[in-house]
Amino acid sequence: MTSNSIDSLLHEERRFPPSPDFTEGSVASPALYEQAKADRLAFWADRAREQLHWHTPFTQTLDWSNPPFAKWFADGTLNVAYNCLDRHVLAGNGDRVAIHWEGEPGDTRTLTYAELTSEVSKAANALAALGIGQGDRVAIYLPVIPEAVIAMLAVARLGAVHSVVFGGFSAESLRSRIDDASAKLVITADGGWRKGKVFPLKPAVDAALADNASTVEHVLVVRRGENDVQWNERDLWWHEVVSSASAEHEAEAFEAENPLFILYTSGTTGKPKGILHTSGGYLTQASFTHKNVFDLHPEKDVYWCTADVGWITGHSYVVYGPLANGATQVLYEGTPDTPHPGRWWEIIEKYGVTIFYTAPTAIRSFMKLGREIPDGFDLSSIRVLGSVGEPINPEAWIWYRDVIGAGKAPIVDTWWQTETGAIMISALPGITTLKPGSAQVPIPGIKIDILGEDGTRVDPPQGGLLVVSEPWPSMLRGIWGDPERFADTYWSRFSTPEAYKYFAGDGAHVDADGDIWLLGRVDDVMNVSGHRLSTTEIESALVSHPIVAEAAVVGAADEQTGQAVVAFVILRSEHADAQTPDEASTLLRAHVASAIGAIARPRQVFVVTELPKTRSGKIMRRLLQDVAEGREVGDTTTLADTAVMQIISDKLK
Ligand code: PRX
Repeated sequence: MTSNSIDSLLHEERRFPPSPDFTEGSVASPALYEQAKADRLAFWADRAREQLHWHTPFTQTLDWSNPPFAKWFADGTLNVAYNCLDRHVLAGNGDRVAIHWEGEPGDTRTLTYAELTSEVSKAANALAALGIGQGDRVAIYLPVIPEAVIAMLAVARLGAVHSVVFGGFSAESLRSRIDDASAKLVITADGGWRKGKVFPLKPAVDAALADNASTVEHVLVVRRGENDVQWNERDLWWHEVVSSASAEHEAEAFEAENPLFILYTSGTTGKPKGILHTSGGYLTQASFTHKNVFDLHPEKDVYWCTADVGWITGHSYVVYGPLANGATQVLYEGTPDTPHPGRWWEIIEKYGVTIFYTAPTAIRSFMKLGREIPDGFDLSSIRVLGSVGEPINPEAWIWYRDVIGAGKAPIVDTWWQTETGAIMISALPGITTLKPGSAQVPIPGIKIDILGEDGTRVDPPQGGLLVVSEPWPSMLRGIWGDPERFADTYWSRFSTPEAYKYFAGDGAHVDADGDIWLLGRVDDVMNVSGHRLSTTEIESALVSHPIVAEAAVVGAADEQTGQAVVAFVILRSEHADAQTPDEASTLLRAHVASAIGAIARPRQVFVVTELPKTRSGKIMRRLLQDVAEGREVGDTTTLADTAVMQIISDKLK
């Protein structure tokens, strides 16, 4: 985060205590904090029993005998899909709407819990017939359509492991994820709707599997876009295979530590990490936080989280948390501004959404369009607002509360990560006095500390590095296939043999009230529109282009997207004069989009003749960031050649 945003955080001094009305009916109570403080493990054991149905009850809460490899509720067994489906039907809530789905072109589909249970059972039978069983990996590459949720739950029901790949990722990114997890099956669609058009998905799968050398045996294709697709021997239509399957499927119980999913996320190296989550602990924390952080009253609320199922927010707060809690939710396929800029508000009005969870980048883009647009819709059903993905600046916070929340809905700013699996820091509505710009306090049962470089705790208001000091139920259990990288990346920096501490990669400080303020990543990970991107991964994509000799990428502050990708490249000498810098920039921006996905497309690519390096050859990205953000260039004394920055700055003027 830049110094500008820290300044702006300091200008908003207003505090928002909970209204007595809200507190009276709120799900969360201060007793949760007290119980967690008195006995953290007993607290989580109670939550696991209260939130979930266990086929075999557990007797052991946490096994931390082999850190950093944790086991939660290890001798218990459960079925994750049963917890999200059948038990609600058996409890008499089969007619409750689970999903109000809205397609971008305006087509809709409503699924009750009973219907969703049948659909998932059919899909589970179909997958089993294709040979999918416990432990097998299934890649899912779908738009936000009901089949995405059905596919995830069907995989979970069989005790298999899903790896959802965001539909905006390229064929190459999909291939590397399929290979890393040795997926046996890919579930995709012909295409999906986005910005008024069908975007094809199947060709990316075909390209990813073109050499027939992967572990994939079948590709199951949902018909959604009605676009023409190439057909291969391994391909099967979802509607043929799933519709003919039986709607009866008995959910078998699996151990609490049975792997549930792998989700790839960017780290500091070029290769994305396959973050592994398991069943019992994950579902406990995802559902507990979903209920308490959003004050969910499942019998009357209509909840909407705008995340794509391809991200962790879509896993924990579209699929697992809400469905485990028996919530009624909205699922929307398309973009916020199609066919008109009020589409989201129209959806809120149409379904009477009461709880709304989105990202600051979206809020800022609506702010820019003006309040007239949301003011044209009836948003009076809204009673809780959530934010996730990056720090929310106080201006956006106040706008969100005033314009979307009618000046009274509490906002929960939730800090967490793909790795943490569920919310870790957040206010609890009805309890916490809200402070715009701060994520506030660890949820009950979570222990967070802010440490200095030397590992000692820093005192307010000094900034430091955020660590989680005790294991938590929804923690990642590892990086798929790479236990060393897991131990190294997260646990080596601050752990001692007596105390293992998880290093999150975020800077933060605590104020005198004990509220936590997130200050952005401290590693080579950028946050663009709430999505994580690795500088190294984009640099690798750039140098894979034949005209590029060297590349350096930085995340530069951007009013709209939080950070934006800015690249500096040196062209190979034989190409340096053959292209104008503008041509090279256009070419390379497109190249990154096709290598990784459109989200990684640089905002700018600057062609330079030198990059600032230390004497040991390390690129000083900090200086490039100064240039990219239009600031005066900082201290250059450690550069091998101190004139370099002058050359770069002159060139970009
Ligand atoms: O830097 C933090 C930022 O997003 C990172 C995690 O990204 P990802 O794994 O993609 O998960 C995003 C959705 C949970 C964190 O390391 N981040 C996430 N939420 C917040 C945040 N930064 C500040 N405030 C937040 N509420």
